[in-house]
Amino acid sequence: MQEKPQAKYLKDYQPPSHTVSHLDLSFDLQPTNTKVISIAHYDAISDTTDLRLDGIDLKLLTLKVNGKAHTQYEQSQSHLLLTELPSSFDLEISTEISPSTNTSLEGLYQSAGAYCTQCEAEGFRKITYFLDRPDVLTTYDVKIVADKSIPYLLSNGNKIEDGVTEDGRHYAKWQDPFKKPSYLFALVAGDFDVLKDEFITQSGRAVELALFVDKGNLDKAPHAVESLKRAMAWDESRFNLEYDLDIYMIVAVDFFNMGAMENKGLNVFNSACVLANQQTATDRDYHTIESIVGHEYFHNWTGNRVTCRDWFQLSLKEGLTVFRDQEFSSDLGSRGLNRIDAVMAMRAHQFTEDAGPMAHSIRPQKVIEMNNFYTVTVYNKGAEVIRMMHSLLGEQGFQKGMKLYVDRHDGQAVTCDDFVNAMQDASGVELTQFKRWYEQVGTPTIEVVTSFDPTKQTFIIELTQHRATNDPVVEPLHIPFALELLGPDGEILPLICDSREVSKILNVTNEHHQFVFEGFEQEPVPVLLEDFSAPCIIQYNYKLEQLIHIIQYASSDYARWEAMQQAFSQEVFAEVNKFDGHITHTLNPKLMAVLKQLLTERNGDIALIAELMSLPNFDALSAGFTQVPVNALVKVIKDFKHDIAVSLTDALKTAYVSAKEQGELSHDGVSARALKNTCLYYLAYVADEDIEGWVETQSLSENMTLKLGALKAATAADLSCTGALMENFDAAWRHDLLVMDKWFSLQATIDSNSTIDNLYGLYNHPCFDKSNPNRVRALVGSFARSNPAQFHREDGAGYKLLGDLLIELNGLNPQNASRMVTPFMSWKKFDKTRQELMKAQLQRLADLTNLSDDLYEKVEKALS
Ligand code: TRP
Ligand code: ZN
Repeated sequence: MQEKPQAKYLKDYQPPSHTVSHLDLSFDLQPTNTKVISIAHYDAISDTTDLRLDGIDLKLLTLKVNGKAHTQYEQSQSHLLLTELPSSFDLEISTEISPSTNTSLEGLYQSAGAYCTQCEAEGFRKITYFLDRPDVLTTYDVKIVADKSIPYLLSNGNKIEDGVTEDGRHYAKWQDPFKKPSYLFALVAGDFDVLKDEFITQSGRAVELALFVDKGNLDKAPHAVESLKRAMAWDESRFNLEYDLDIYMIVAVDFFNMGAMENKGLNVFNSACVLANQQTATDRDYHTIESIVGHEYFHNWTGNRVTCRDWFQLSLKEGLTVFRDQEFSSDLGSRGLNRIDAVMAMRAHQFTEDAGPMAHSIRPQKVIEMNNFYTVTVYNKGAEVIRMMHSLLGEQGFQKGMKLYVDRHDGQAVTCDDFVNAMQDASGVELTQFKRWYEQVGTPTIEVVTSFDPTKQTFIIELTQHRATNDPVVEPLHIPFALELLGPDGEILPLICDSREVSKILNVTNEHHQFVFEGFEQEPVPVLLEDFSAPCIIQYNYKLEQLIHIIQYASSDYARWEAMQQAFSQEVFAEVNKFDGHITHTLNPKLMAVLKQLLTERNGDIALIAELMSLPNFDALSAGFTQVPVNALVKVIKDFKHDIAVSLTDALKTAYVSAKEQGELSHDGVSARALKNTCLYYLAYVADEDIEGWVETQSLSENMTLKLGALKAATAADLSCTGALMENFDAAWRHDLLVMDKWFSLQATIDSNSTIDNLYGLYNHPCFDKSNPNRVRALVGSFARSNPAQFHREDGAGYKLLGDLLIELNGLNPQNASRMVTPFMSWKKFDKTRQELMKAQLQRLADLTNLSDDLYEKVEKALS
């Protein structure tokens, strides 16, 4: 390791030394020597004569203060320190950078020939020297000069001029009237196809919409544009927030580290989060695209107009914007199914993060590499914290709070406390104790004990909250605990305390609470923490009969799914205890009967039935163990699937045949395909002649949801047709890399002893490219995340595959390497043999002489 990377602490926050009143940027684009000239006006806030600018990998050409060469400066790896400055001055800096050799996908880089930028969190310093921090806001004028072979020259805001240069190149000038921090700056230059549209705002202004995609992809652009229009209309109707510029542009690029980026007026998207048609994208892809397009659009107010004071406040914009995109999806689609998705992400990923060495509060206190904190904790748990405020304030109170927040802080860079204060001031709901959620680390547990007193006809619920051992917050949290009580016929019973009906959201503010509810002739069934009203683990000994009662009667789809997951989990845990490697595990017949009933009756939303039929995945189940019993868990899950398939063959077949998947995008079409795929997935384990035929026929479908469903069923059950189906797919789709990603994922998730060798071989597939994060995630990410049997092989070959890859990625793209290391972070949750093997891979990384800050921070935490 070189110099030990330095941590930054929230408690050390200092305001900037200077303000910047305006920034003029000009770019002369060349692959290896792009010249950047930056002219800015600085005003010192304190009486300092120094200015310390951020800058990395920049070649400094000239430096002028008030038009004259300035020689009083020191340059280091990451900064430029200017001294002997006046208090107010113009600073002109010209630098040179090399986009074509920038594989980090941060700063200015080339994606398949097109120039593009990614500045969040701290990428602007790879473009020019600047105060690269979110609390320095200014207006931008940008000039881009490039060869005419690059037709589109884009930046934030409005285009004010374009033309040709004397040497036969061309240029464009852009002006962004809104002040913004440097992380929202964007530049894109390339050759694209463009889909244009228009949106009329509620106040009657016409906004031009433009989606730029790689040439030849226009047929995959409409869904994203339609999603954008839906998002713009929704933000007006639900939040009364209207778009502010005359143009909104989205560019899809193939090389991108994350999903998308909300640069002011010029979003840049991973092409995987934009492009869709029925042949290439699944129903799930359509849903993801809509929600990400929404997410980036919603940032225009929650992130851009009101931004973060410092990066420790990231959840201010991300938690809130995830909450907003979840509400968008729920208002437009099924609230229950969207809630199920959100909770699955919390259970499978966030709880795991919170239980491991990277555990942090939604407002972290200490950061080495900011890119490491774009996490499920900051995003998803952050959204749950916003959701709790929404539960406590109600929709009206919450909207009042939002209005006050935006009115108070428009144009400012603020903190999470500012947000909560606005919520409190506008609603009158006291939130002082609630603020502890911003400091709290690890998943809190709520222990629940209930008792029924038939003589008094009371039902008593005792709640005790426990915080995780790694939690610095020792005082109790304010937990909105939603409760529903079901009567013997499934009716929802009123909650009566002291002869008064109370709200279903119980305010749990003490360590220990007792609630006495009155008026029950028989013991009710409690639906605890309904709708996952707080990001907690519930400890309660549900009897299977109670869970089945909830599955049958609860008013919310989410609660029914939750009960089903609980029931499955309990059965899995019970069987894991019996595991000896030989016995065949079967599902409790009472639960099997419930599945059969659901499948046969097919009442209500059939997409929900598909969800109810699905076992919790390996990650979600792992969260319930202190030491994950890999072999037992893999075997029990597999045996249960087999048992369901065999026991319910007829019902599955009937449901499969009767699910009518007409309607490309209608909810009914989507639901029917979901149920069909679930049925086929189980049926493949039976694999009689009928079923093999169905799989083959369905694999020929022109609809990607169905085609992929067939291939998933075939690969999971290892049908004899699998090899041929996979070969056909490969032959048919090599021209479409996003579709090939689905094929790479399938290859990676096959549970076979030859999978690892196969993966090394696939590095040489003509479509594979280690410098493309989508490819890497599809192949190696899916393997480590979704193939537990092979990844956790006891000979360590799975761990070695990931370790080998991380060593390469460390040099190529540290941000991607650091995301990919996640499966190793939980090494302490496994048995001794596996612990040693995973640790050895982490040690290989620790020993690298060029270890990036990104990996350093995680590896160091994992090993300490
Ligand atoms: N702000 C983006 C979002 O959530 C995500 C983001 C952060 C990002 N850092 C990034 C995207 C780096 C791409 C690359 O909407
Ligand atoms: Zn975001």
